[in-house]
Amino acid sequence: MCQYKKEVGLKKAGLRKNRLLPESEKETLLKLLVTADLHYNLKQYDWVLNQAHSYDAIIMAGDLLDLGSNLGHDVQSIVVERYLSKMKAGRRILVSSGNHDVETVHSDAGVGVEPAAPWIQHLRYDGLDVDGMCVGLDARIKISICPWWESERQRLEIHEKLLQDQKSSGDFWIWIHHAPPDHTPLSWTGKDFKGEAMLNTWINEFQPDLVFCGHIHNAPFKQGGSWNMKQGKTWVFNAGREMGSVPSHLVVDLEAGTVEWHSSAGPELCDLKA
Ligand SMILES: [Fe+2]
Repeated sequence: MCQYKKEVGLKKAGLRKNRLLPESEKETLLKLLVTADLHYNLKQYDWVLNQAHSYDAIIMAGDLLDLGSNLGHDVQSIVVERYLSKMKAGRRILVSSGNHDVETVHSDAGVGVEPAAPWIQHLRYDGLDVDGMCVGLDARIKISICPWWESERQRLEIHEKLLQDQKSSGDFWIWIHHAPPDHTPLSWTGKDFKGEAMLNTWINEFQPDLVFCGHIHNAPFKQGGSWNMKQGKTWVFNAGREMGSVPSHLVVDLEAGTVEWHSSAGPELCDLKA
């Protein structure tokens, strides 16, 4: 795990000597803002909207809405869609569903009820990148966006999609998957582990370069937990959740090969080439 606490500026100066990505004449979309678990915190949406101009792409790794709100999904999703629509000017917005974003619906596949987030699929009409898509940021970088899933049919569907995405162009592969890998510091609640074991299996099978998760809000703040980990060659991140007006978040510089974690605990830096 990376533990370069409060040495961000110092460390960054030396990191550009080594490259994470192969050189390209045309480098684009290399600075990403990653959040998860905003849970309909509109002050945090305001913050992200105000920061958007500094980034080439914004990733929201699930739980954009909040099941505990007095407002229904229909109202929350309209408000969040307006925020996302404003954020998207000049950049890519990538959104995956979390457990707070889904409703239980009867599956078209005739296998009973399954969780689904039709409001997130609707965001495609606004030009956003959502669940089930594989997005090329440039010729070198692709991002697979995994939906929240619970059924066996959905598990098989995601695996099949990852097999397809593996073959698409872009050697540097990023995933978005709301639940973190199980029995890891990213899924540590302080009492037990509450991750998704299938993600561990998929990471071993496909070995993506980066995975952005959320879901276990306290993991980065608990003894024994963390905001980053490495499984094989894959770096995995969970920025956690804080309740203030600034969400805990990640700043990813793919050109420099760094991920900064920002929270009330102070900045920390992870060198992806370490
Ligand atoms: Fe959450």
